Amino acid sequence: MTPSLSVANKRVLVTGASSGLGQHFAKVLAAQGAQLILAARRLDRLQAFADTLECSVSPICLSFDVTDAASRAALVKQIDTLDVLINNAGIVRESPAAKHSQDDWDAVLDTNLKGMFFLAQALLPALQTTGGSIINVASILGLRQAGGIVSYTVSKAGVIQLSKTLALEWARYGVRVNALAPGYIETEFNSEFWQTDAGKALIKRIPQRRLGQLEDLDGPLLLLCSDASRYMTGSVLVVDGGHVVSTL
Ligand code: NAI
Repeated sequence: MTPSLSVANKRVLVTGASSGLGQHFAKVLAAQGAQLILAARRLDRLQAFADTLECSVSPICLSFDVTDAASRAALVKQIDTLDVLINNAGIVRESPAAKHSQDDWDAVLDTNLKGMFFLAQALLPALQTTGGSIINVASILGLRQAGGIVSYTVSKAGVIQLSKTLALEWARYGVRVNALAPGYIETEFNSEFWQTDAGKALIKRIPQRRLGQLEDLDGPLLLLCSDASRYMTGSVLVVDGGHVVSTL
């Protein structure tokens, strides 16, 4: 039988759900009938956003810092069963590699990679109860390079390798692990940059000659959240208008 693309009634945890991609994922999943657990540091902002969602079951909003072991433990304690973990929380710190500080390096790696891994590890038992799946939000900057964000590119390359390794190890537990690797997606925080000369020049290098819109991630998101991806694990789903295959 053809597996379903439905996410209705699936219990999905989205980290970093108070803005950008995480907020959009929550909107899409709520509209499709998923039962959401939303986690972010800014609980007031998260709750205000959750109140705007139209869904049959109100999302559970939890205050959460992915870099903090106690915060991860407190979150995990409240989740006994889970269908999908979307490891979305992430940060970037900009400066040339020659001047990149240890604080910036630690902040980015702790958030984007270490926190992601230990959250996934702690939620493995909850995911096992459903034969669930993990979506780690990577980036095309884990596959190619850009200057001025060395800790970010390294962290995202790590996310890709982490996803493949966990896919290998956790198939025996019935848990799938995939990486979603968006290209440059326009959000409220980066929209000004795309109006600059540097921004416009960058867009010209994308084969489709446009930025990604949040909605461009919807299909890949629903695929990875649903049973339609039941034979996918260890995949890196690139969604970038062809950016990583641009000519050298
Ligand atoms: P954003 O800054 O709007 O969202 C990041 C979210 O992570 C925020 O809600 C923030 O509060 C949360 N967060 C940061 N540190 C945290 C911590 N210690 N604990 C818990 N939550 C924390 O940025 P955006 O663009 O929505 O990014 C979301 C993910 O998508 C990130 O992993 C990013 O690297 C990735 N990404 C974004 C792309 C883009 O073009 N916007 C492209 C490729 C990947």
